[in-house]
Amino acid sequence: EATVELDIAKIAEGQAIKAIYRKQPLFVRHLTAKEIAEANAVPVATLRDPQTLAQRTKPGKPEWLITMGVCTHLGCVPLGAAEGEPRGEFGGYFCPCHGSSYDTAARIRKGPAPKNLEVPDYVFRSATAVEVG
Ligand code: FES
Repeated sequence: EATVELDIAKIAEGQAIKAIYRKQPLFVRHLTAKEIAEANAVPVATLRDPQTLAQRTKPGKPEWLITMGVCTHLGCVPLGAAEGEPRGEFGGYFCPCHGSSYDTAARIRKGPAPKNLEVPDYVFRSATAVEVG
C-alpha cells in the first residue's frame, strides 16, 4: 500500500495545503496558537463526535492537523485548506455542499456530517517530513 511523503517546512502558521492520499484529498494544516486554544477550549462531551485535539494530533505536535479532505456527510471536499477559502463559523473547514462546519481540530460542529474529518495514519520522519499511510 502506497505511502505519501510530505514536506511541511513551508506551511506557515495559519496556512494549510492540500495533498492526495489514496486518490483522495488530504489536508495538512499548521494551526496557530489561537486555533489550538480554541480547539482545547471546547468541552469534549458537547461534541457530536467527541475527540480532543490531542487525540487528533501527535504528541508534542498539536499545531499539525492532518486529516482527509473528505466531508463525512456525502464526501464533498470542504473549503478552508486553500488561501482565501471560507473556513466556516468554527474556523476550521466548511463544506459548501450542505453546510457542514468543522472546527480548528476538524471536528464536526454544525450541519449534517456525522463525524469529524478522518485522521489518517501518519508519522513524523523529521521535524518537517511526514509520511502518511
Ligand atoms: Fe459535506 Fe454534505 S457533503 S455537508
